Amino acid sequence: MSDSLDKSIMQAAAVLRLAKSVCMLTGAGVSAESGLRTFRGSTADHLPEHLKKDMSALWKEFDPTTLATPEAFAENPELVSCWYDWRRLGCLAAEPNDGHIAIAKLQDQLAKRGGSLTLLTQNVDGLHQRAGAKDVVELHGSITRWRCTKTQRTVVPEPKPFAKFPPQSEFGGLLRPDVVWFGEQLPQEAIIAASDASQTCDVFMTIGTSAVVFPAAGFIHVAKRRGVPVIEVNPDDTGATKVVDIALRGRSADILPRLVEAMIAL
Ligand code: OAD
Repeated sequence: MSDSLDKSIMQAAAVLRLAKSVCMLTGAGVSAESGLRTFRGSTADHLPEHLKKDMSALWKEFDPTTLATPEAFAENPELVSCWYDWRRLGCLAAEPNDGHIAIAKLQDQLAKRGGSLTLLTQNVDGLHQRAGAKDVVELHGSITRWRCTKTQRTVVPEPKPFAKFPPQSEFGGLLRPDVVWFGEQLPQEAIIAASDASQTCDVFMTIGTSAVVFPAAGFIHVAKRRGVPVIEVNPDDTGATKVVDIALRGRSADILPRLVEAMIAL
């Protein structure tokens, strides 16, 4: 760990120490160390034989706009639901990592000090909640919850592969994952919660996201325009780096526990 990273962690800890209301946006990078390859992967054993070849090709040259759309589902519900079921089971098998745990701890610490942390996540894996984070705002929905295409009623399927693809809803339609696909609106209540938090926070943190997918990434800029300090945790530069005040370059499972411990110690 470099001296300059140590220094930046202390600087960020001091900012957090004074914060009353933190808004945090997380992305796929937070779950990387839980083994979730959200945008890449290999074929799933449970897939029907005839889909395995298609699936490996799609993962190899993964482009989220190819499969994560209502059009793709309408055209090939079997393939799209298979792909999401593979991802669903991967999320259920994964465990929260030290980054998820540190975020829940930070939320708890801030609450004990009379403050708050509103956690906005683009992740659909449920790992923040499993690490103990509360009131998580799921901007892109949840992969563990599926929805009837006819009635919009949601269900939480059993933690085992669907017997048949595409899965049928007991309410008459097909079952699709309750996630936001490209071209679809984010859930209204999530937008309201994220807008409120980014407009009222006194610190904004962006963790493990490339910050290029909107509207989610836009909340960073909403806070920045208000003059709020922005802290980024990411091994690489991102779409938000130019507006970031403190960049902590590294993996969230390494940096976040150090940051939270440093804040508590101050
Ligand atoms: P991306 O895959 O675009 O970006 C992941 C980010 O995590 C990158 O900036 C990496 O540098 C960083 N990263 C990798 N490993 C990390 C680690 N160990 N610790 C911290 N950061 C790490 O993921 P998102 O920004 O979440 O949307 O992508 C946003 C949206 O694009 C997703 O929610 C999804 C996707 O298309 C939909 O499906 C609607």
